[in-house]
Amino acid sequence: MSARLIDGKAIAGEIREEIRRGTRELAERGVTPGLAVVLVGDDPASQIYVRNKARACEELGFYSEVHRLPKETPQDELLELISRLNAKSEVHGILVQSPLPDHIREKAVIDAIAVHKDVDGFHPVNVGNLVIGDDALLSCTPAGIIEMLKRSGIPIAGRHAVVIGRSNIVGKPAAMLLLREHATVTVCHSKTADLPDVVRQADIVVAAVGRPKLVKADWIKPGAAVIDVGINRLPDGKLCGDVDFEAVREVAGWITPVPGGVGPMTITMLMANTLKAARRAAGLA
Ligand code: GUN
Repeated sequence: MSARLIDGKAIAGEIREEIRRGTRELAERGVTPGLAVVLVGDDPASQIYVRNKARACEELGFYSEVHRLPKETPQDELLELISRLNAKSEVHGILVQSPLPDHIREKAVIDAIAVHKDVDGFHPVNVGNLVIGDDALLSCTPAGIIEMLKRSGIPIAGRHAVVIGRSNIVGKPAAMLLLREHATVTVCHSKTADLPDVVRQADIVVAAVGRPKLVKADWIKPGAAVIDVGINRLPDGKLCGDVDFEAVREVAGWITPVPGGVGPMTITMLMANTLKAARRAAGLA
């Protein structure tokens, strides 16, 4: 039997409607959610991401500003800009697009962003609050994954979730969020012995390694939910995920396509985080 598709675009659309409602409520108090995006250098993919973020702001009626800095910008200058944005009341969220040029230390940049404006959820205080279960701005892709599971009616509590990949941006926070939802969580990585055997035990698989079609059909327990975070460009120019989609969909119970799965959720959760930061700034819960 073929798996049910988890339509990231449709779920993201649903969440955007909720964000619009929240934005109207804030407007009654004279507050417009504001996002500042900073791009250093001219990486073509980053330029597209930044443009999409500005467009999402426009569509949702957010205030936005984009700062495009030359790739040789000294780190101190970038930190000064962040400091100004931290102090600017119209800006509720700050995102510095990765990757950064080699001479800039990413950690110094993340640490410089005010915790309450860290809409990427990368600041150590937000990561720490996620781990101990306190209120935090959550990393966007993992937060999107949880929304997709919940809104598709996929049970998490008591289920075995296997996360493939241990990045700070996706794997680790996804594992923590699944744990917070009471899953039993296993995190796999490049040194994991018998990866297929571990994945076979999963009710929920999250693949976030950036290796095209790594996850095969015979790794999947029949009926499992498979969330594919990978976006890989094949030699023929087509996009594919970390999951062998056509084969795995015949075994899984649910599956996210690439594109149109996790991708549309990430930017939507960024907007949700910006609204949350604006609500907090306005004294709303
Ligand atoms: N580059 C690719 N994805 C991301 C992201 O989620 N946040 C930031 N800041 N940069 C990125």
